[in-house]
Amino acid sequence: HGTSKINDQGHLEIGGVDATHLVAEYGTPLYVFDEALIRQRCREFVEAFQASGLKFQVAYASKAFCVMAMCRIVEEEGMSLDVVSDGELYTALQAGFPAERIHFHGNNKTVDEIEMAIDAKIGCFVVDNFIELQLLNAIAGDKRQKVKVLLRITPGVEAHTHEYISTGQTDSKFGFDLGNGSAFEAIKEADSLSNLDLLGIHSHIGSQIFEVEGFRMAAEKMAAFAVHVRQETGVTFKVINLGGGFGIRYVDGHTPLPVAVYVEAITDAIKQNFGSNEYPLPEIWVEPGRSIVGDAGTTLYTVGTTKDIPGVRKYVAVDGGMTDNPRPALYESEYEAMLANRAKEQAEEVVSIAGKCCESGDMLIWDLNLPKVKAGDVLAVSCTGAYNYAMASNYNRIRRPGVVFVKDGQSDIVVKRESFDNIIGNDIIPARMKQVS
Ligand code: LLP
Repeated sequence: HGTSKINDQGHLEIGGVDATHLVAEYGTPLYVFDEALIRQRCREFVEAFQASGLKFQVAYASKAFCVMAMCRIVEEEGMSLDVVSDGELYTALQAGFPAERIHFHGNNKTVDEIEMAIDAKIGCFVVDNFIELQLLNAIAGDKRQKVKVLLRITPGVEAHTHEYISTGQTDSKFGFDLGNGSAFEAIKEADSLSNLDLLGIHSHIGSQIFEVEGFRMAAEKMAAFAVHVRQETGVTFKVINLGGGFGIRYVDGHTPLPVAVYVEAITDAIKQNFGSNEYPLPEIWVEPGRSIVGDAGTTLYTVGTTKDIPGVRKYVAVDGGMTDNPRPALYESEYEAMLANRAKEQAEEVVSIAGKCCESGDMLIWDLNLPKVKAGDVLAVSCTGAYNYAMASNYNRIRRPGVVFVKDGQSDIVVKRESFDNIIGNDIIPARMKQVS
């Protein structure tokens, strides 16, 4: 997919660059991003909304993969950016991302984060709860600014996804509940607070969703709520944000639809439900993360040791693992992989790919068909662009891999591999202990 192909040498090539050359130049493990594919995914969203005729914003959910070069791409593609922490906000601002296109999320924004975001004059806060409403109003007042807000609503739509990552049900740590009236209370309160400019409402029903139905239902519920609010209070929303969650194909059996199908379901539901109520059509915002970067990322590893337990299983260990991709251990996520240096060879054996951490749960892939694997082979795991680098850790004091963007035969390092100095850089040996010279 994307610009990936197998070249004449029988090597995997991404963005016109031979994966074995990338390994020689940058070492492994290495995250490789197909820049053209990221841009294509951005454009699929933007063009689908343009086709709807509605006003819109596509905000990339930076939590999926937030580095400065990625912020540049999002900026160049004319999109907005959703951040959920001071660290993501800082990354975006340092990358020169226009503050007015930044949306700030989170269920527990700190005073420092709120001040930083107001000072930067970001575009909007997505307010999660009553305490934040008051806090934000107070801080905005101190700074003599009026801040734009959306209210995060829990619409009670259960998306069909892995239960650890669904956020749409009533029993959720996020948002104002639609069912028990707290969403309605929050609207009235936000409308009464003089330093807040209430733009509208937000919902996010989960992640890695394939069914159109969940998005349609959420759009309908949000529209119905907007109409109800207007009848009862006169408050008119300019914006309805339907969050992210658009699924991607990691392995066979994952069946995402083209992005345009989800967008059309959402925009149709909005048109139908607002048009008939003399309600000015609101802007529609979405926040895709995974579907922008997920399938553009490939992780390259070098194969090291193997352990063959006859009649049971063959373990093949690579030089990374749960430190660069914790998703299999956390969510039992599945991935596909191939040998990048022997991409044309037939599969000969079934192996399971283990990481190098001192922990049995550090497995990347179970039961993978590969040619007969040997030490030094390059394993390419696909679809690692979302929530891999973003969730990477230094467990076992393993250094985080570097990140490379490839495009038109050119590779550029966008995050350096961590150094040993990065590993001990914040360590301090107290003065009362024997010092090292
Ligand atoms: N908007 C909000 C409010 C969100 O909470 C999320 C994801 C998104 C947008 C983007 O969702 P996406 O389009 O990427 O599905 N670490 C998990 C995923 C957690 C998603 C959390 N929120 C994973 O690795 O699968």
